[in-house]
Amino acid sequence: MKSIADLGDLRGKRVLVRSDLNVPLEGATITDDGRIRASVPTIKALSEAGARVVVCAHLGRPKGTPEDKYSLAPVATRLGELLGREVTFASDTVGESARSAVGAAQDGDVVLLENLRFNAGETAKSADERAEFAGQLAELADAFVSDGFGVVHREQASVFDVARLLPSAVGGLVETEVGVLRRLTTDPERPYAVVLGGAKVSDKLAVIDNLIQTADRLLIGGGMVFTFLKAQGHEVGRSLLESDQVDTVKGYLEQAQERGVEIVLPVDVVAATEFSADADHEVVGIDAIPADRMGLDIGPESSALFAEKLADCRTVFWNGPMGAFEMAPYAAGTAAIAQALVDITSDGALTVVGGGDSAAAVRQLGFTDDQFGHISTGGGASLEYLEGKDLPGITVLDES
Ligand code: 3PG
Repeated sequence: MKSIADLGDLRGKRVLVRSDLNVPLEGATITDDGRIRASVPTIKALSEAGARVVVCAHLGRPKGTPEDKYSLAPVATRLGELLGREVTFASDTVGESARSAVGAAQDGDVVLLENLRFNAGETAKSADERAEFAGQLAELADAFVSDGFGVVHREQASVFDVARLLPSAVGGLVETEVGVLRRLTTDPERPYAVVLGGAKVSDKLAVIDNLIQTADRLLIGGGMVFTFLKAQGHEVGRSLLESDQVDTVKGYLEQAQERGVEIVLPVDVVAATEFSADADHEVVGIDAIPADRMGLDIGPESSALFAEKLADCRTVFWNGPMGAFEMAPYAAGTAAIAQALVDITSDGALTVVGGGDSAAAVRQLGFTDDQFGHISTGGGASLEYLEGKDLPGITVLDES
């Protein structure tokens, strides 16, 4: 796999950079700019090397046609602020606006193309359709740099196909991310714990399967925990439940026991009448979740238990909030995990926070990136890495 240095002298060259600028927005306001910040060093380095930098990225999941709410225009403004230089925003991806912006770019200039997913070719299942769009992207550049770690698990035109058409290199962000994840999969310092949360257990089955072979402890919270509690015979009221996964989860609990992997589940939860910050809510034991309530966070005893189980760990990976942290009454569990990780980080443990939601959660709760070992920009990508899957955006670079 080539690094940017292997691309040679970039002065005057048009370099297409695939970044992951998929940030949360409220209207046109970016609520967490972590992914833009993480993308800046590579863009800056290319610009300082005299390249004409053509940044491409997606936002959300539009269905192959332009939709205002998914425009990257607010991202262009923020990227310009963080770079300290003007970013020319092209109002299309491979059309007239993109061609003229790239054609007018001088050495060091930065152009951001409109959302890649406004073109059906970006995410097309058909390799031919993707290749056609990748060809149009490749015409805008002399070289390609893959720096969008959050999308390297996607076999998409700007991630995979374009790398076959241009001299290609891996960007610094992807190098860093892969380096950290490799430390988790190659002889991690033990005890090694993984904290999993988020809504759906079905999204995490493959990684749980893998972690039962590699981790010492699995701590589970978030909406997905109710399928575990149900598998243990608890009633979960109106909490999120994936009934069709209960048997699979029972199997995991048995396997974990056989292998001596400790699965830590909450002992209490915050149960509310509705999914709302104003709803009546109370802390109840997991044996006493009322039939008309839903669990929206782990409770205080569970937070203390989880913190205790993390205190002696030397390696921790965390993906997924413990509750509906965006609403203050259900944020304490997620904050407790963040604090436990901060405490062991300062004792020298390697802590990795994986994924958009968890990264946004820790920042929203007032923590800063430098309090953790590493905050990954990729949720799905880091999970797939831990699952041991091939990441198309990485393997394609190995070919080049
Ligand atoms: C993410 O948000 O995890 C990445 O930007 C990938 O987005 P996607 O899941 O829509 O492909």
